[in-house]
Amino acid sequence: MENRKLALSGIQPTGIFTLGNYIGAVGSWKKMQQEYRCIYFIADMHSLTTIRNKEYLKSLTLKVLALLLACGLSVKQNILFIQSHVHAHAELAWVLQCSTQFGELKRMTQFKDKSLKHKDNINAGLFCYPTLMAADILLYNADVVPIGIDQKQHLELTKTIATRFNNMYGETFKIPQPYIPKVGAKIMSLSNPTKKMSKSDENSNSFISMLDPPETIMNKFKRAITDSDSNIKFSAEKPGISNLITIYSYFSNISIPEVEEKFKNKSYKDFKFAVGEIVANNLSPIQEKYNAILKDECYLKCVCEEGAEKAAQIANSTLKNVYEKIGFI
Ligand code: AMP
Ligand code: TRP
Repeated sequence: MENRKLALSGIQPTGIFTLGNYIGAVGSWKKMQQEYRCIYFIADMHSLTTIRNKEYLKSLTLKVLALLLACGLSVKQNILFIQSHVHAHAELAWVLQCSTQFGELKRMTQFKDKSLKHKDNINAGLFCYPTLMAADILLYNADVVPIGIDQKQHLELTKTIATRFNNMYGETFKIPQPYIPKVGAKIMSLSNPTKKMSKSDENSNSFISMLDPPETIMNKFKRAITDSDSNIKFSAEKPGISNLITIYSYFSNISIPEVEEKFKNKSYKDFKFAVGEIVANNLSPIQEKYNAILKDECYLKCVCEEGAEKAAQIANSTLKNVYEKIGFI
């Protein structure tokens, strides 16, 4: 069993995660548990680049942990932990920053987007964020990293940094590969389907939160922006309906052409109703589990303590090796 490959990924506790996060990432994390050894974590250190509210961060971190468990991540088979509990992440990030060029970080589109969005707080952490993400991945020698398409550029940079380090100091890091789902790698906003669905969007009608009650879900899909035409057909010119087709395909486990066939004589209104229904039906059991798990603070504490202990063992051994290679005494 130990020769199974290792999958690793993280999610920021910047909000209750959305249907986009679920379809693009967390759903893959869950499926990968069958085939891979898995390490998943809550990237609280990353969220410090945008969140400056102590109580908000604290409560969200626990809620996201409970939600990941409710989504079906197993702590028996996997390691699930909170990033800041494993100090090696910050330490390796520093080493990797010294192997990363200013120009490389400046090219990151997420940095450009977030600097525009948070003009009053373009901090150095936001700029160096991809080196912390590289540390997260390289500490565990991950084989695959399940992510949505927006993180692909960060993963490419991780590969560049790892290769550069290996060339300079000798074989140290495994070069990770991204795992990006074929359907749903970028779920779009319901109010502006040319924009990614994001949990930090000011307009709450633009995203489905994993904790939205069924009526809210039905309402948000009903109001979702679609195109003027009335054919339920997937196409680049019709991002609104294509987004809904993708969501339906994901939850019904049927292909996009099969969705088109199934709804070929239906109206947009009927289709939106069907999408709302399938999403609400799939989220309800997760929400029930979430409410039960969140009440059990002892259990949550125990999960993250155990996870951090297991993660630290692996991470500290990689860090020790790195420190030797670079010449720290
Ligand atoms: P974040 O919310 O930025 O921490 O993202 C966590 C994971 O969800 C990452 O792998 C992202 O690529 C993925 N993700 C975020 N938003 C979306 C979206 N709208 N569609 C698909 N995947 C997404
Ligand atoms: N940067 C990722 C995001 O915003 C979250 C993340 C942090 C991550 N570290 C990671 C994802 C390591 C994969 C692997 O979505």
